[in-house]
Amino acid sequence: MGKLRTTFCGLDFANPLIVPAGVHGRDGDVMFAVSESGVGGICTKTIVSQPANDVLPCFSAVGAGMVNSVFGSDKSSEYWFTEGIKRAKEGRANVIANLAGFTPEEAAGLAESAVKSGADMIMVPTHCPHMGEILMAMFPEMHFPEPSLTDVEPMKASVKAIKEAVDVPVVVKLSGTFAHVTKEWASGVKESGADGIACADALGPALSIDTRTGQPALGGPRGVGGLTGPAIMPITLRMTLEVAMLSGLPVIGIGGVTAADDVLQYVMAGATLVGVCTAGHMKGTGEYGRIIEDLEKRMDGLGISSLDDVRGLTIRRIEQRRSEGKVAVTKPVPPKVVAEKCTRCQACERVCAYAAIAVADDRVAVVDETACIGCGLCVSVCRFDALAQQYY
Ligand SMILES: Cc1cc2nc3c(=O)[nH]c(=O)nc-3n(C[C@H](O)[C@H](O)[C@H](O)COP(=O)(O)O)c2cc1C
Repeated sequence: MGKLRTTFCGLDFANPLIVPAGVHGRDGDVMFAVSESGVGGICTKTIVSQPANDVLPCFSAVGAGMVNSVFGSDKSSEYWFTEGIKRAKEGRANVIANLAGFTPEEAAGLAESAVKSGADMIMVPTHCPHMGEILMAMFPEMHFPEPSLTDVEPMKASVKAIKEAVDVPVVVKLSGTFAHVTKEWASGVKESGADGIACADALGPALSIDTRTGQPALGGPRGVGGLTGPAIMPITLRMTLEVAMLSGLPVIGIGGVTAADDVLQYVMAGATLVGVCTAGHMKGTGEYGRIIEDLEKRMDGLGISSLDDVRGLTIRRIEQRRSEGKVAVTKPVPPKVVAEKCTRCQACERVCAYAAIAVADDRVAVVDETACIGCGLCVSVCRFDALAQQYY
């Protein structure tokens, strides 16, 4: 596992996998158990000054992930600072305190106490798609309007206050709802003086309906929640790449990871650490160890000896396209068939709308280069790496 060792903001991680805030950060005992799966780091659920129970039900599994309306930690900050973090620290993983204050001073106070009780790093969440309305439903006396998605000033004020209060790395976690204002947030985080960026939290607000009753599947005023899991990865991956390119800060890529190849994609997009949350919730904590094990195998299969060698590779590829003027390829480039890997499953033939690839009983896939338009669909549906995309 030596080749997976990773340094992030000066901290040593056994490997790049972390478990970002979620139910596996609900208390110190669970965090301890999860850290035994071998992950490099684990986050607490968001520690807040006014914990509350969740509005139930709070989970709904959807096609490619889940919608959840989970609130911050239901444990008091007192619990976290006297017992929770200390217990989590008994495990092997670095302990990251995810916390939020209603004011910069409150956030700084929570961060200071978290570090005193042993937290190795602070993570500051920015926005959650369902949080505003759930807070208002639970605390009607409290006026809590949805924050503006383009106002980075409250985040900057909180980070500045936290940075003055603690001497461990402080990382800002962008919301998936910033998908269209990623650039503004990347610059804002850089200006705030944060040490790193995590990208991203859930997208939404999202809805799932129970067709037996017509009810929104989740509790709460409108029954909306945040969408997480594989459905969001192509967006959070793009955000991660943009954030890495624009901020130059160390990045934690989060969103939709279920496999070792997903981890590599985040690293190629520029991430140093990679978070896995929903996959562990949906399939159990064994997923974390499996992904770490598969990561080494996938690296070996691709001839990658160190994550450092491929970190930001896609950024370099994009820069190369730009510098070589290859911004719009329109000439078809047919894929190459890797004959020894073809299982004749015919998945490629089924999806080709141009009848440009065919598999017969007695032979592997053959590409008709006169009919192929080079769209790449057959390559992406092949599960056996039997078709290799060619690039100009
Ligand atoms: C059940 C659940 C609870 C979560 N709670 C928090 C939280 O308290 N604070 C936070 O910053 N993110 C929270 N998240 C967001 C995750 O940390 C992560 O950013 C998001 O789920 C995307 O990663 P994934 O697709 O691997 O799940 C939660 C996610 C889930 C699924």
